[in-house]
Amino acid sequence: MIQIAPSILSADFARLAACAKEAIEGGAALLHVDVMDGHFVPNITIGPPVVASLRKAVASEIPLDCHLMIENPDQYIPAFADAGADWISVHQETCIHLHRTLQHIKSRGLQAGVVINPATPIGTLTEVLDMVDYVLVMTVNPGFGGQKFIPSCLEKIRKLAAIKSTIGTGFKIEVDGGISLDNVAEVVRAGGEILVAGNAVFGSGDVKTNTERLLLRGREASLVQV
Ligand code: DX5
Ligand code: ZN
Repeated sequence: MIQIAPSILSADFARLAACAKEAIEGGAALLHVDVMDGHFVPNITIGPPVVASLRKAVASEIPLDCHLMIENPDQYIPAFADAGADWISVHQETCIHLHRTLQHIKSRGLQAGVVINPATPIGTLTEVLDMVDYVLVMTVNPGFGGQKFIPSCLEKIRKLAAIKSTIGTGFKIEVDGGISLDNVAEVVRAGGEILVAGNAVFGSGDVKTNTERLLLRGREASLVQV
């Protein structure tokens, strides 16, 4: 099942709820919330109060997928959980005790995800694949929306998809960064299932139509055997 997770980072923050609703009308299955601390990544974005407002503004069946690009994520997991996050992902690169951090997310009853940067190999996740609900493969270096997709990351998605089918565990493969109408089919054919898109959804044009088109192209690609 192919799903679109619009990244609100590229939305108009003064019209956040309206933008989110337009994307949901276009078929978005979840909302991707990019949390940046100015330390792990060179940008600062939003924190728990925005998640709480968004949780009140959008239908409860739409999960809020909070991507924590922050140092010491353990310190902030309770605040995001209290604010209404449904999914929380943490970077492998920021977690000294990754297993413990994932357990922490799960102990709050949330979906737990692990994220890897373009330079981080899939092999670093071997020991946690059986406990995560999703793996988020970055296809840009995290920090900013609107960057160019890094094509070499496709091979990592393929590797992860192969591991997934071999070990048969239930994690989903989410892909984040530079996804557009031009490359969404390739991402899906590589094994991407949840497609994060910021600029392609909120950058220009109509948000609902942008979401519909991405979803359609992604779903078509998932049906075609190559
Ligand atoms: C990058 C973020 C992404 C990104 C997505 O650090 O994690 O979610 O902003 O936006 P686009 O689709 O514009 O690359
Ligand atoms: Zn993200």
